[in-house]
Amino acid sequence: MSIKWTQEMSVNVKEIDEQHQYFLGLLNELYEAYYFHKKLVLGDSINKLLAYAKLHFSTEEKYFDLFNYEGAMEHKKIHQELLGKIAEFVARFEKGETDIVGQMVEFMETWLTEHLIIIDKQYTRCFNEHGLR
Ligand SMILES: [Fe+2]
Ligand SMILES: [Fe+2]
Repeated sequence: MSIKWTQEMSVNVKEIDEQHQYFLGLLNELYEAYYFHKKLVLGDSINKLLAYAKLHFSTEEKYFDLFNYEGAMEHKKIHQELLGKIAEFVARFEKGETDIVGQMVEFMETWLTEHLIIIDKQYTRCFNEHGLR
């Protein structure tokens, strides 16, 4: 399982597109660690993904605040929900449910793809109008 960033996912802001590409890369790395039973790096890989998700969301939210983005509240809520969901997976993983990682990656792949295309793209116009591209 591997997911690739495509032009269709572009939000037309270079910094954010690059973050999305990196995010997807981490997700692929996590799946690889899981699939090839690299147990030693699995925990690290999960933590890296979680930390990057937080960093990425805070980048988007920084611009929401800066540009007074009208969809900010709803979008922030969606980010929070995802972080909560990842935390649940992490808790189960830490209890020894190693197999949960496959489910987590699958969930994240679907979530991320849909989020980029449906939710993130909604701020393109606002960000571009404020000179960010
Ligand atoms: Fe995003
Ligand atoms: Fe987002």
